[in-house]
Amino acid sequence: MKGFTLWFTGLSGSGKSTLAELVAAELKRRGLTRLEILDGDVVRTNLSKGLGFSKEDRDINIRRIGFVCHILTRNDAVAIAAAISPYKAIRDENRALIKRFIEIYCECPLDTLVERDTKGLYKKALAGEIKGFTGIDDPYEAPENPEITIHSGKESQDESLQKILRTLELMNYIPPDPEATRIPQEEEAKIKERLAELGYL
Ligand code: ADX
Repeated sequence: MKGFTLWFTGLSGSGKSTLAELVAAELKRRGLTRLEILDGDVVRTNLSKGLGFSKEDRDINIRRIGFVCHILTRNDAVAIAAAISPYKAIRDENRALIKRFIEIYCECPLDTLVERDTKGLYKKALAGEIKGFTGIDDPYEAPENPEITIHSGKESQDESLQKILRTLELMNYIPPDPEATRIPQEEEAKIKERLAELGYL
C-alpha cells in the first residue's frame, strides 16, 4: 500500500482531533497499522514547543507538521494531521510537497463553536483575554478545493467518518471493506461528483 496524508483543517473545536482519532482507529482495524497522528495541540508540546500564534509561528508549525507528514508518506505510512492550519498558502505548500494529500475541511458555524466551547477558549477570546484567536480576531482561510468537507455542526461523527473512509476507497488509497457500513447512495453520488470535479475519477 502507498502512503498518504490526511490533512484536517478547521477552527478550534470543529472536530479535527476527534475525527482524526476515529479515522485512525478504523484504518488500523482494516490493517493499515503504519500510521501516525500529528495533532496541533500535541505537536506544540514538543516539535513546535515555544511557538506562539502569530502568522509566522503558525506557518512554522504547519510547515513542520507538513514535513513530518511528507517523510511518513514517502515511507508508505499514513500521516494524519489535525491542526487549525489557517493559511491556505501553507496548506497548499504541503499539498505540493506531499502530493498524496487529502484535505478535509471541518466546517462548523462559529456560533455553534462558541456555544459548545469545549475548551472554554472562545469565551476567553471574546472577552479579550486571549488575543489573536482564530475565527474571533485572527483569520481562518477556508479551503477552496478540499477533497472532503465535514459539517461538524450537523453531521454525526459516524456520518463524517464514513464519508472520509468511502472517499479514500473511491480514490483507491485504501481497499474497500466489504463488511464496512454502507453510506447512503446520495452521499456516495456526492462524493463521486466531488472527486470527478477534482479530476480524480
Ligand atoms: S495552528 O494555527 O498553528 O494550526 P494549532 O492547531 O497548532 O494551530 O493549535 C491550535 C490550538 O491551540 C487550539 O485548538 C487551542 O487549543 C490553542 N490555542 C491557543 N491560543 C490560540 C489562538 N490564539 N488561536 C487558535 N488556537 C489557540
